[in-house]
Amino acid sequence: MTRHLLTLQDPNLLQQKAMQSMFDCFEGLCEGTVIVDRTSHVVWINDRYAARLNVDPHLAIGRDIEEIIPNSLMRQVVETGNPILLDLLDFGDQTFVVMRMPVRGEDGEVVGAVGFALFSHYESLKPLFERFSALQTELVKVQKKLAEARRTKYTFTSFIGNSPSTMEVKRLARRAAQLSAPVLLHGETGTGKELLAHAIHAGGPRSYKPFVTVNVAAVPENLLEAEFFGVAPGAYTGADRKPRPGKFELADHGTLFLDEIGDMPLNLQAKLLRVLQEHEFEPLGSNRVIRVDVRILAATSQDLEAMAEDGRFRKDLFYRLNVLNISVPPLRERLDDLELLCEHLLEKTGLRSGAPGRELSAEAMDLLRRHPWPGNVRELHNVLERAVLNTDEHRLEVSDFQGLVKAPARTAVLPDVAAGSSYAEAMGEAERRILEAALTACNGKVVDAARRLGIGRATFYKRMTALQRPSQ
Ligand SMILES: Nc1ncnc2c1ncn2[C@@H]1O[C@H](COP(=O)(O)OP(=O)(O)O)[C@@H](O)[C@H]1O
Ligand SMILES: [Mg+2]
Repeated sequence: MTRHLLTLQDPNLLQQKAMQSMFDCFEGLCEGTVIVDRTSHVVWINDRYAARLNVDPHLAIGRDIEEIIPNSLMRQVVETGNPILLDLLDFGDQTFVVMRMPVRGEDGEVVGAVGFALFSHYESLKPLFERFSALQTELVKVQKKLAEARRTKYTFTSFIGNSPSTMEVKRLARRAAQLSAPVLLHGETGTGKELLAHAIHAGGPRSYKPFVTVNVAAVPENLLEAEFFGVAPGAYTGADRKPRPGKFELADHGTLFLDEIGDMPLNLQAKLLRVLQEHEFEPLGSNRVIRVDVRILAATSQDLEAMAEDGRFRKDLFYRLNVLNISVPPLRERLDDLELLCEHLLEKTGLRSGAPGRELSAEAMDLLRRHPWPGNVRELHNVLERAVLNTDEHRLEVSDFQGLVKAPARTAVLPDVAAGSSYAEAMGEAERRILEAALTACNGKVVDAARRLGIGRATFYKRMTALQRPSQ
């Protein structure tokens, strides 16, 4: 009979051999091995372990395991019959990584236990534990940040107003959140298009994926392509274009919000259309094709349809974007929302300064109702923040709005310089009026307003947002 046949025909022997080799192997590799009987008395301990524990191996035999190793859990293993596969055992100033297993007799009853001290170089595990705890700390931090980011995201409840037209806008936007087709948000500047885009993203199945914005009007024309599609490493495209991913790539599986899409140059419109149709593109200076799954939301304050008619916007792109259309009415057409909006914005202003939200006198409310609000809710927000600075009284009066809600002058742009205002403040005010006057004259169209003033649309946009920043 060959050995091979013997092992096949005698599984018991094979098992015994396996156990014996395993024991020998562990015993040889480990720092130490100890065996106890069913009363947890030591029946065997190898010399190496005895030396490590500083006991005479012959004197250890027959003693309670705890007399030799005070923190031992061998008794627990004997009593429960459950192994402890990995544990740390402190002994004096040493720490052992240990494994404890029950030993069973012929009919499965526990007759004792065997313990292996796998290694004592706990020190050598330290980098591993340190890395583990560093990763754990990092994880907790990131989870916290993520939760915060999600909480601060605008949702549909952030879109204030209960006038019939606002309710209809919210109904359409809620429906759009559940779909994956492109959405075109149309409305004057400051009507809440960007807020709605956030809410549509946050209310849909992509909410846990990125929401990425490109403000087409704010990016200089020659940089737009790189902004969208990215620049490949090693691409020679000029000093100002370092390799970086484009917004399409960053928004993969999420939502890309194209703000002021009416300002998109025609040649780029063609490229955008291709991405919308084929879901793929090539970064600048690369022939690698990148595939993306991105939901498109676009916003415009311009009449894209009219632009498409006279060739300033590609018709095919317009139809592609205009699958779901949401028209956000200007504030002056939904004055029923004004009171709620004021309450909400004043509360927000108060929260930031730690003070309770201010109130409006009935006369002040009437004054606000008569203002045409060319800058819509954004303008309302700014006006309220400025008015709050004009008084310490809880209730804001008409006088606190002086100079804030007059229709912008079209010719005389010199502001009344309030006592105590600096040169920079006065200049800022003058500039703000010039920009507002141009915007009003051009029905809120940034491109036209910029052209009227003879400046670039990106410059116009940047100045406008800088001046409208509430902290100014
Ligand atoms: N219905 C609304 N409820 C609350 N805040 C609003 C509302 N509409 C606009 N806002 C606020 O007004 C400002 C301008 O809104 P935004 O979404 O940027 O307008 P748009 O993109 O149409 O120019 C933001 O601070 C926004 O939070
Ligand atoms: Mg906007």
